[in-house]
Amino acid sequence: MTALMSKPSSMKKLQAEIRRLAGNKALIDEHDIEKLPYLRAVAKETLRLYPPGPLLLPRETTDKCSVNGYEIEGGTMVYINAWAVARDPTRWEDAEEFLPERFLETKSVDVRGQSPEVIPFGFGRRGCPGTGMGMAKIELALANVVYKFDWELPPESKDVDFVARTGLAMHKKNALRLVPNLVL
Ligand code: HEM
Repeated sequence: MTALMSKPSSMKKLQAEIRRLAGNKALIDEHDIEKLPYLRAVAKETLRLYPPGPLLLPRETTDKCSVNGYEIEGGTMVYINAWAVARDPTRWEDAEEFLPERFLETKSVDVRGQSPEVIPFGFGRRGCPGTGMGMAKIELALANVVYKFDWELPPESKDVDFVARTGLAMHKKNALRLVPNLVL
């Protein structure tokens, strides 16, 4: 919602896609989700820029190894900076921009641990086993939040605040406060 509030064109596009499909339904359900490609692209782009676990879970090397000329002893704890990987300007065009469209254009890059350039759920044997459920929950919740409501900043807020709190999981430091307007 933070990213969408700062990019009204993406919010409008998302709402148009959902409202076109939903007609007069009371709620968006799981069966609708697969027919909403822009919603999925928004979820992926959000996980690219704001991975909830930016450093994944720590790993430990079993043996001595060498990575890009760095000698790493066996038994070393290693953190993978998934946040930085997904913003690498050599891998991503306009890396800092919130552009859900990039995931519509390329079908070969996905967030589920198959593409090394974006790994919000980690990868490999210790990758997140809740990936499917995590994606479905984000998509379902977001779709319903923006389906029947238009959202605006309260008069006292001038800008959308992106400040994150420090910690192993990414949180907003200050809550996003928005005013809902029911769309009939
Ligand atoms: C958007 C939602 C979610 C995100 C972004 C997320 C992200 C992650 C990440 C980054 C890891 C570490 C993977 C690695 O180091 O390679 C992880 C591990 C894990 N996640 Fe998730 N997760 C999400 C949802 C869920 C859900 C819904 C469940 C369970 C229902 C779940 C259960 C787990 C478990 C059990 C592990 C540890 C796996 C292991 O160490 O073998 N996650 N998750």
